[in-house]
Amino acid sequence: MSHDDFPTENPAVVTCGLPYANGDLHIGHLRTYVSGDAYARALETLGQDTAFVSGSDMHGTPVAVNATKAGVSPEEFALDHHEKYEETFPKFDVDFDNYGHTHDETNTELTTDIVRTLDEKGYVYEKEIQVAYDPEDDQWLPDRYVEGTCPYCGEKARGDECDEGCGRHLEPGEIEEPVSTISGNPAEYRERTHKFFRVSEFADYLTDFLDRLEGTSNAKNQPREWIESGLQDWCITRDMDWGIDYPGDEEGETPSDLVLYVWVDAPIEYISSTKQYSERVGPDVFDWAEPWRDGEGELIHVIGRDIIQHHTIFWPSMLRGAGYNEPRAVMASGFVNLDGDAFSTSRNRAVWADDYLDEDLAPDLVRYYLTTTGGFQHDVDFSWEKFQDRVNGELVGTLGNFVYRSLLFAARNYDGAPDAETSAEVESRIEAAVDDFAAAINDYSLKEAGDAAVALAGFGNEYIQRNEPWHLTDDDPDRAEQVIYDCVQIAKAVAVLSAPILSEKAQTLWEQLGEDGSVHDATLDACLESPPGEFGEPDELFEKIEDDRVAELNEKLEERVAAATEATEDDADESDESEENESMTDDTDIEPIADERISFEEFQDLDVRVGRIESAEGIEGADDLARLEVDIGVETRQIVAGIKQLHDLDALPGTKVVVVANLEKAELFGVESNGMVLAAGEDADLLTTHGDSEPGTKVR
Ligand code: 2FM
Ligand code: ZN
Repeated sequence: MSHDDFPTENPAVVTCGLPYANGDLHIGHLRTYVSGDAYARALETLGQDTAFVSGSDMHGTPVAVNATKAGVSPEEFALDHHEKYEETFPKFDVDFDNYGHTHDETNTELTTDIVRTLDEKGYVYEKEIQVAYDPEDDQWLPDRYVEGTCPYCGEKARGDECDEGCGRHLEPGEIEEPVSTISGNPAEYRERTHKFFRVSEFADYLTDFLDRLEGTSNAKNQPREWIESGLQDWCITRDMDWGIDYPGDEEGETPSDLVLYVWVDAPIEYISSTKQYSERVGPDVFDWAEPWRDGEGELIHVIGRDIIQHHTIFWPSMLRGAGYNEPRAVMASGFVNLDGDAFSTSRNRAVWADDYLDEDLAPDLVRYYLTTTGGFQHDVDFSWEKFQDRVNGELVGTLGNFVYRSLLFAARNYDGAPDAETSAEVESRIEAAVDDFAAAINDYSLKEAGDAAVALAGFGNEYIQRNEPWHLTDDDPDRAEQVIYDCVQIAKAVAVLSAPILSEKAQTLWEQLGEDGSVHDATLDACLESPPGEFGEPDELFEKIEDDRVAELNEKLEERVAAATEATEDDADESDESEENESMTDDTDIEPIADERISFEEFQDLDVRVGRIESAEGIEGADDLARLEVDIGVETRQIVAGIKQLHDLDALPGTKVVVVANLEKAELFGVESNGMVLAAGEDADLLTTHGDSEPGTKVR
């Protein structure tokens, strides 16, 4: 069975994967939300009745563990983050029809109801399993409270997923060599009774469902392998206080001390959030039950590719089991990298949503970059240089340039659109762009939808250049009017087609054209409807990003990373210490202690001082050597050290080190070295101090 093309008669619901309410948002997260927003707007442009919903994921160990570390209750912690997200999304024009959270009453009630239904229908059973337990702290260790080794790939795994190895979902009891992430204590497995959802019973249904499923190919294909290799039932309860209680019977009896696994109540928020939207606008405007349960609907999930399994196996089984409709499409995006490497929140190597806004960069620029750089399912590499290229090339050079020159000419010569009709050539070019846009959205490709708008502006530039209206105003005024009218019509179509992505700039263009209301209420037909006659001189839509601005943005990013790296290295030094101590007992690579003893007097001959690195640069021609300027209190010394390959030299200034100050001078690669910086091992792990000792302090 294949689905009808959009727009259909049915209401659509576009959802975005719920962010865990446990941290700050960066542009890697924003990719999902901006894309969901652009896709929902694009469906509306096609004429599809659409609700766009999401909410914060409040439960589970990702929230509880961070709350414990922050020393506050999970509820307070999650609500704080939820409120922050609610404020941040609109700043990027991510305009949810409803943004709820999983801990609210609507979701608690609906989750209870759905789980009860699954239970009554026989899809839930009890089983004794081994659960990690910290005997010293007398604490159960569900999910992210425990880390150890993945039984499938042998990599270090944390909680319920092997996120650094094979990426599999891990059931309780599967992690090998478990350790508590809170106390660091070794954990043991103890027997507990838990509830299981019979996902395995849905294997045949899921195979057929995947034949019908639309969206990105990763979401349609990867789950087939999981089904073929045999579906495991899912444990849907956890030994925690924070979460939605496993429901008792109708009368609320048999209260359980178990809460539901976060992945049960999280996707149900998609329904709850739609329900809240209906309750607010009234079922005549949007009736949540129609797409989800009682009628037909187009359910589209926009997610990151790490949660495909949850959305194509677990969630459709729950929906099916509880008598709800199945998703029509899953759009699973790739990740966002920064200059070729993954974002690292611990190293502060990320472009944070707040930092982006503080730079006064228009939200539309990053919306455009995130939605149109490469196919949706592929990773996107972000760098300020690449961002600058796309903004200056496509938005400033093509789209902005075309609409500005056309509208300016029209305003100066005709006070708006001249009196004419769209030519056949331009009409068919706009029709082609409209078709490309509609095909792109039916193909779940925001990139192609964005390309359709920019390519139309590109055509506009070529059209105005080819027809040179500035040479026609005197010699052939009718022809000049025709050409400019065409350009205004193209600009109007560009506004409509770019609006889902360039939500704010398209509205500005709409107003520059003298149109009333919101471009977001316009549908594809508007692309060929006549523009209003009158408008004044426009402002430019986009500003060029200059090279020195990029240099400044890069510098700020590097400074942040350097500061965080230093802090992390300090932490790592401490934890490495304990790892090293452990390995002393069984490690055979450690050099034996020297046989010959030296006297205390001999030791005292060494003049060892605390130093602070002032500058560090590689020595040209030497693979390993770096020239350091080190302040040792009485003076600043030039010291050569073999650390060029092993350290980020730019991050070193400010680092305290330990220096042998009375070593004979030496010359290395033509550079005099006046002292020695002490470092441990093959990695030249620099020795430092952990208190406030100033440069020059003697080390004894
Ligand atoms: O992986 C995550 O970040 C989850 N919070 C996503 C939940 S999406 C959904 F299904 F609710
Ligand atoms: Zn693994």
